[in-house]
Parts: sequence; C-alpha cells; structure tokens
Amino acid sequence: MSTAARKRLYLQRMGIPVWQRRDDGVQHQATLPDPPDIQEIHATVHLVNSSTASPEGATEDADIRHLDWADLEARVAACERCGLCENRRKTVFGVGDRGADLLVIGEAPGAEEDRRGEPFVGRAGQLLDQMLRAITLERGRRVYIANILKCRPPGNRDPQAEEMSQCTPYLDRQIALIRPRVILAVGRIAAQYLLRTDKPLKALRQQQWHYPESEIPVVVSYHPSYLLRTPGDKGKAWQDLKRLIPLLGAGSATESESK
Ligand code: URA
Repeated sequence: MSTAARKRLYLQRMGIPVWQRRDDGVQHQATLPDPPDIQEIHATVHLVNSSTASPEGATEDADIRHLDWADLEARVAACERCGLCENRRKTVFGVGDRGADLLVIGEAPGAEEDRRGEPFVGRAGQLLDQMLRAITLERGRRVYIANILKCRPPGNRDPQAEEMSQCTPYLDRQIALIRPRVILAVGRIAAQYLLRTDKPLKALRQQQWHYPESEIPVVVSYHPSYLLRTPGDKGKAWQDLKRLIPLLGAGSATESESK
C-alpha cells in the first residue's frame, strides 16, 4: 500500500473524512483512487490545524496562537512535535524585521541553514538576497524570512504531511505577529500550503491571492534553488517580483523603475 493510501486509511479509521478538490473547485469527500501526496498534506494540515486530530495537539495549537515573539522562539527551539527534531542541529525560526512589510516564505531549512539556524543562508539564500535587492529591499530591512518547516528534512526531501501539520502553527503565529503588507511564497510547497491548494506552481504565479481569512496579498514565485538550476526562468521570477512593488508601498523601487 502506498504511503498516501496508508495515511488516508489511518485518517478514515479515526473517523476523519479526507477531502479532495475536484476540477469543479468544490471539495468532495474522497472516494477515488490515491490522490497525490499534496492532497493528503492539505487534508492532514487542515484537520490537525482545525483541532480535530488530538485534544492535546489542539490545545497546543491554540496555545501557540497566543504566544509573543520570545515565547514563540523558545517554543520552537524546544519543539519535539515531529520526528525532525531527532536529527536537527538547530531549529530555523526565521530572521529579519519583525515589523516587516514583506514576509518571504520558503520550504524548509537545508544543510547550511540547519548548521547556522538561519533561513536561506546557502547558495539559494544568496540568490534570494539578490532578488530582494532588485526591488531595493534587503534581509532584515522591511523583510522577514521564514520557512514552512523549522527543521531540516533528511536529505532535503519534501516536507511530509504530519511535519507540516505540526510545524505550521508556528508560521501562522509569525504571520499574525508580523502582519506583513505582502507575503512572497517561493516554491510549490510554500505556495500550496499558504493558498490551501494543490494547483501546480505555474497555475499560481502571476495571479492575485490572499492569505486565507485575511487581506494579506500573496505573490507566488519560483524557489531560488529552482532558479539556480534553471537560470532561464529568472526573467519570469522578475515578472513576479515586480508584482510586489505596488503592494509594498513607499520605500521600495518605484513602478517606473521596475518596468
Ligand atoms: N530552501 C528553503 O526553502 N529554505 C531555506 O531556508 C533554505 C533553502
């Protein structure tokens, strides 16, 4: 049995319905063969985040929603909510301006981030810094950088559903504390989680989105690691970044500069 099927069975055995999106845009209870993993991720993330999985988890999630920065950071540093804590060197909480206008959200720490405890410090991070400079921003000035996961998945594999469901209450709290003017989701994993969708990245770029239940616009672009592998798409990433400028308001490049 596939991992996805096992997870679905597990959820169904607990009496938790698994929902999946069909082409008509309406959510239906799953009756079809194995959905792709991301649908499982969203089913699990939402069920856990909506406090139906375990009473202890739900209480902890509710508690996280009231933490201030200091307590949130301490809670993440001591976190053992998923198995990733076993192999991490450092948790990667996030870095930057806590009153940021722009919140950049990536996927998960890599090896260098795990060693240093800071997001986007490897080659992908250098490219991200260049991307920010292109819109006259920089790490730490009007910008906060975080990831969907606070701990490194072994071998940089994709985050698993359970890991995301356990970890994202921290990110949700960071978003609530920062209240950025705009969120930039880099890469498929971040975009799909933030927009609660299973659509591919190419369908999410160049459109106006909002972080659920808020007015915060979300702009979707490529992950810098992808751009390092596929430099020919940097022009498209620039088109995405330009969407940020009017949303950021005063202090970044003017519209005419960006054209
Ligand atoms: N990739 C990410 O998504 N986040 C990091 O922090 C580093 C690489």
